[in-house]
Amino acid sequence: MEEQKQRGTFTNKLGFVLAAAGSAVGLGNLWRFPYLAAKYGGGIFLLVYLILAVTFGFALMITEIALGRKTHLSAVGAYKALDKRFGFLGSLACVVPFIITPYYCVIGGWVLKYLTVFVTNHVADAATDEFFGGYISQPMAPVIFFLIYVILGLVIVMLGVEGGIEKASRLMMPILVVMTVIIAVFGMSQPGAMDGVKYYLMPDFSRFSATTVLAALGQLFYSMSLAMGIMITYGSYMKKDAHLEKSVRQIELFDTGIAFMAGLMIIPAVFAFSGGSEEALGKGPSLMFVTLPKVFESMKFGTVIGAIFFLLVLFAALTSSISLTETLVSILCDKLKWGRKKACAIVLLFVIAVGVPVSLGFGPLSFVAPFGMSLLDFFDFISNSVMMPIVAFLTCIFVGYVIKPKAIIEEAEINGKFKVKKFYTIIIKYIAPVCLVAILAFSIMEVLGIITV
Ligand code: TRP
Repeated sequence: MEEQKQRGTFTNKLGFVLAAAGSAVGLGNLWRFPYLAAKYGGGIFLLVYLILAVTFGFALMITEIALGRKTHLSAVGAYKALDKRFGFLGSLACVVPFIITPYYCVIGGWVLKYLTVFVTNHVADAATDEFFGGYISQPMAPVIFFLIYVILGLVIVMLGVEGGIEKASRLMMPILVVMTVIIAVFGMSQPGAMDGVKYYLMPDFSRFSATTVLAALGQLFYSMSLAMGIMITYGSYMKKDAHLEKSVRQIELFDTGIAFMAGLMIIPAVFAFSGGSEEALGKGPSLMFVTLPKVFESMKFGTVIGAIFFLLVLFAALTSSISLTETLVSILCDKLKWGRKKACAIVLLFVIAVGVPVSLGFGPLSFVAPFGMSLLDFFDFISNSVMMPIVAFLTCIFVGYVIKPKAIIEEAEINGKFKVKKFYTIIIKYIAPVCLVAILAFSIMEVLGIITV
């Protein structure tokens, strides 16, 4: 009860949507979505992603926000409050941000490095194919940039200016969108880019596979911060008079819109500047960093535009990693009853202890390759393709069969009608759990080498 009294609420409806969207929009949209779309067949990935967003994504986000708003508690408490046996699910969800945060900051460090490359006018170097690979395999520089990035976040939190950063990023986010559109239009006007536009927008059904679905699903969770307790916490701060269904649609539209534009900015450029070969498209985590400098190099004022662009990406990344870090701190404070200072110190040490090896995983530690993956890919895989589907599955079981969909529907209907409640019930009770188990089984078999896709 104590907690209930202390809990602030978002002052207005748009405030909630903006806060949720602000945390949702980050490297997931700008860096992760385009490289997955490029790798997993372009149009078919986009199509699968959109279908999942309006079905799974929609149902799961409504569920999580409603759970938080109903109980006024964050993940650990919310599940437990509704059914004692499911307290573990809250804890399980809380593990996910612990896996994500360190490697998120490693990528934040890459963005910071690229900002300095553009500011110091070394665009021509960065536009070569070897630059990125050469950079991340160095033993020192990437670790230093990672540490600077982490300290930057820390200083912002210590100075108590996260609010200012949020506000600044709210201003910068629209600029980022506009710049993304400009860069996308420029990229698409280059010779050869139209093949990329086709690849991105026209689904090739022969490329459909279980891995595509799994990749799209993991991306959906990642990008919308689902299946990790975050939206439950946001929901706990949401006022009762906000229209749940509408808010969720707005967040989804915003988040997906930005991811879509990021894909349009990068994929046609891969065709124009790197030929669109399987190898060029399958670059994975390095795709954005390899492709964009080529675009900026051939653009008028490309150095300045690139510098501004990476600054904006840095802001988007910082707001996300700060709220990720905040999440870790509050989990430790809540669960272990630690003071805030102690929790901050431990989180900092943890992020560094895990982030440094992840960063070195591309260089001196590249021999550590669990299941043939780099350390970054490995952590990314464990959180997105294993943990999140498990949490999502158990959440469906919890809502579908323990507290029953009615509990969520009632919460959603406190303010206005929940138009698609039948659809919601069917997804939560039947479609989502069955699909999640199938997808999970496929992914585990694939990693273990039982099947090859
Ligand atoms: N959704 C964020 C992105 O697209 C990443 C993220 C995952 C996140 N979980 C989060 C951000 C929790 C803030 C809080 O980059």
